[in-house]
Amino acid sequence: MRLLLKPFQLGPYELSHRVVMAPLTRLRASSDGIVHPLAAVYYGQRASSGGLLITEATSAAANGNGYLGAPGIYDDSQVAPWREIVRAVHAKGGRIFMQLYHAGRRSHADVQPDRVRPVGPSEVVHGSQALTAAGWVPNTPNRALRLDEIPAIVEQFRLAATRALTAGFDGVELHGANGYLFDQFMQDNSNLRRDSYGGSIANRARLLLETAQAVSTVAGSARVGVRLSPSGRVGDMADSDPPALFSHVAASLAQLDLAYLHLIEPRMQGTALDTAAGAVQQPVAAAMLRPHYSGTLIVAGGFEPAGAEAILQSGDADLVAFGRHFIANPDLPARIRHGWPLAAHDRATFYGGGAAGYTDYPVWPSSVENQGVVKKLEIKD
Ligand code: FNR
Repeated sequence: MRLLLKPFQLGPYELSHRVVMAPLTRLRASSDGIVHPLAAVYYGQRASSGGLLITEATSAAANGNGYLGAPGIYDDSQVAPWREIVRAVHAKGGRIFMQLYHAGRRSHADVQPDRVRPVGPSEVVHGSQALTAAGWVPNTPNRALRLDEIPAIVEQFRLAATRALTAGFDGVELHGANGYLFDQFMQDNSNLRRDSYGGSIANRARLLLETAQAVSTVAGSARVGVRLSPSGRVGDMADSDPPALFSHVAASLAQLDLAYLHLIEPRMQGTALDTAAGAVQQPVAAAMLRPHYSGTLIVAGGFEPAGAEAILQSGDADLVAFGRHFIANPDLPARIRHGWPLAAHDRATFYGGGAAGYTDYPVWPSSVENQGVVKKLEIKD
């Protein structure tokens, strides 16, 4: 692991390795968006000296949530529990960014204040689902945001970033991926607007770019990252010209001198990984956007340590984020460093519940962190 375990300067932070924990929604928060009491244990377990973690998607607005159990940062009462999480990560010498999101149309009246319709760029029928008290149900049809409501969205993100910094976070990541509000504005199968936030690529990218600028005014641009899924189909997304759209977005973000651009590789989108066994699609998003983005690039999506090392060596990315491996392997950087086997994740406990599948994945028995608390290593399927 010539590069994966080598230091990297990320804005003001000196990382000691390039194994990043990807944002992972775990849906264990209370219905008013307060993180689970075990969340500080969970994040603390996954922290490592000089390692970067990114939190689960956290709602920046009261009407920005799409799932029962997703946490929020839209109210001052939500700050203190996050402070405990930051403290646990910093105690191990780690860094942590909060991922801020607005679900937009990917929501349901049952998880909206006063059970109102979710908002989105336009009224377009789509097929994604929300998690409510009744389980996974089709999203409530959304209404289109009025032009005069859009400045308030930007302001909600600015305030959310301010709260995240108050809680001690090292930075924030805007969730521009996976069919949530920013993505809904960017891609033209979900944005049919005719105002200054619809039509041209520049107009469709405007909400994300304005928000990145607004958040940078409070955090400093070197502590703001943006996540995109350039070929993502999640949430019924599609665009008539993804290379043109996302190269414009990447080039515009490059002007802002951000901490990083974080790309999800298309192979996660229900394609090769799920279907053709053994025929895993190669990463392409980073190669496509690298020429348009001069800053730090993080990539995610189906990486094993060897593939992560390969993409770093190719020069297409600077850091690699791991999702599911970090769920099942709290000591992932140490396992990669020592060549210890990786435990398999248990999909049934990804979302909701308590400690099971959350804080009970053991570290490798012989690791220093586990001395005295050696548990039997369970390999789950
Ligand atoms: C995710 N992913 C995700 N992405 C994101 O931007 N915000 C989020 O809150 C979540 N939540 C989430 C929950 C769970 C249970 C999974 C499995 C995935 C996507 C994740 O960050 C990552 O991009 C993918 O998991 C692909 O990486 P791996 O798992 O192949 O390393």
